Amino acid sequence: MKEFFLVCPIGLESLVAREIELKYPCLLQSGQIKIAQAHPGGLEVHAETSIGLGLNITLKTPSKILMRVKEQKCRDYPKLFNIIKKINWKEIFLQTNITFVCHTSESRIIHTGRAESTCTEALNAYFEANKIKEKQLVKSKDYPAQRVYIRIHQDTLTISLDTSGDLMHIRGDRSYRGHASIRENIASLLLLKLLADHKSDTNLIDPMCGTGTFLFEALNFERPSKRKFLCHYFKQNEMQFDNALTENIMPNKLFGRDIDSEVIKKNKSLESTIDFQVENILEEDAEKTISGKNIVIINPPYGKRVKITGDKIEFFKKLIKAIQLKYKPIDIGMIIPRDFASKIKADQRIPFNQNGIKVEFLIISTKL
Ligand SMILES: C[S@@+](CC[C@H](N)C(=O)[O-])C[C@H]1O[C@@H](n2cnc3c(N)ncnc32)[C@H](O)[C@@H]1O
Repeated sequence: MKEFFLVCPIGLESLVAREIELKYPCLLQSGQIKIAQAHPGGLEVHAETSIGLGLNITLKTPSKILMRVKEQKCRDYPKLFNIIKKINWKEIFLQTNITFVCHTSESRIIHTGRAESTCTEALNAYFEANKIKEKQLVKSKDYPAQRVYIRIHQDTLTISLDTSGDLMHIRGDRSYRGHASIRENIASLLLLKLLADHKSDTNLIDPMCGTGTFLFEALNFERPSKRKFLCHYFKQNEMQFDNALTENIMPNKLFGRDIDSEVIKKNKSLESTIDFQVENILEEDAEKTISGKNIVIINPPYGKRVKITGDKIEFFKKLIKAIQLKYKPIDIGMIIPRDFASKIKADQRIPFNQNGIKVEFLIISTKL
């Protein structure tokens, strides 16, 4: 079994574990996947290589997946050179354009720049002695550069391969994003939290949907990713992902509303199975409600990138009232900047960082 590290926002690690539990019940039971440990900012998972690489295709909540190659003591640059030179890179990669990303802490190796150049020199020395065939080099000329993560903490060196490449929130099939759009993996993490106790016989409504990230994530949650990851270019690039769950765990019906007619027009042109309509949620006489078991998820303007006029606390309170009046939801999940969040009553609070802004995801339940 190999060790994989699934990177995610600090504080949301247990939700990545939840996604694995939902999607891989059989492999967890048979021990083919093991959730080993949560660390701040990531989850350690053990699996065979092909299953671990396949997590890139099935999981929506991590931002990157690393695969550990080696861990050993290393106290100086010559030792680092020798360790890197001894790794059989030809068994891993079919290309020589490889970059090193180093992080050092509480270690005698303190200069990350020097550590990176030491690794590059060692790699060049390795390929000098172990040439990749010319024919293969021509083939791999246009491959994206591979990335190797070097972490040196208290003189322990950990070498990991970046199996993902571009951050995983870049889904590849939806290039259309607004300037205040939420990252796709964060949208999926929050959906998992909000929907934890619900079945799929619900309506998911986003009354300020913008580009519709929450709704597109809900729609695509069970669908395998179609984009390329760095591990597609590994020598051993088999990815098993058909063992993941296909059962629908997201709400059946998806509704997006926004005051901006252009954004709604664009959303409609992209997806006909989501009900998109132009609407101002703060209009008091807004009567067009949606019947059924409603769950609302909303990422309102914070006043930073999208302006809010008047008192911000009052704005958020008015918004919650309008949602309750109109949709009578079982639960509301709302992202609010941390400065204001404490002034709003909520049943659960999940703090995280949203594009550099400290926010909380509040869950407000209606006790029926
Ligand atoms: C922070 S953005 C939402 C971004 C969205 N979650 C996404 O990923 O693209 C806030 C959205 O609220 C919309 N909005 C602002 N006031 C509104 C109102 N009164 N009723 C409905 N939508 C409104 C804006 O047009 C904007 O698209």
